[in-house]
Amino acid sequence: FQISLKINGNGHDVELEDARPTLLDVLRERIGLTGTKKGCDRGQCGACTVLIDGRRVNSCLSLAVSLDGAEVTTVEGLSDGDTLHPVQAAFIENDGFQCGYCTPGQIMSAVGFLGETGGDASAEAVREGMSGNLCRCGAYAGIQDAVLDAQA
Ligand code: FES
Repeated sequence: FQISLKINGNGHDVELEDARPTLLDVLRERIGLTGTKKGCDRGQCGACTVLIDGRRVNSCLSLAVSLDGAEVTTVEGLSDGDTLHPVQAAFIENDGFQCGYCTPGQIMSAVGFLGETGGDASAEAVREGMSGNLCRCGAYAGIQDAVLDAQA
């Protein structure tokens, strides 16, 4: 199979040997974008979250073969040169991480969440909306503050 993806604004043609590769593996192993992390590889942790056509998805559950023509945004595509995306800046400002492994997924999920809500979510709504992204360090208070801060 041959598919075309637009990743962070750049076109990529990808040859797939069969229908099994996930978007996560294509991003990391074929395109070389390793910012997107593999935690569980089964849809439970959110570390692999990216945006597909503006909506957040677990890339470990998305078969690349089904995404021909899709627009994908990864954490590498958020900043504008040296200027961080407001959500990235808010995570730094609010200590929204500890080890950092889940952070790309948290940030991509937050960007998607803020797009869904329009930016006036309560703390409770942020916790619910971000509940698909696990943090084994337990940095949830900082993550919640970062998301609230980013929408302010
Ligand atoms: Fe995709 Fe955990 S690696 S949800």
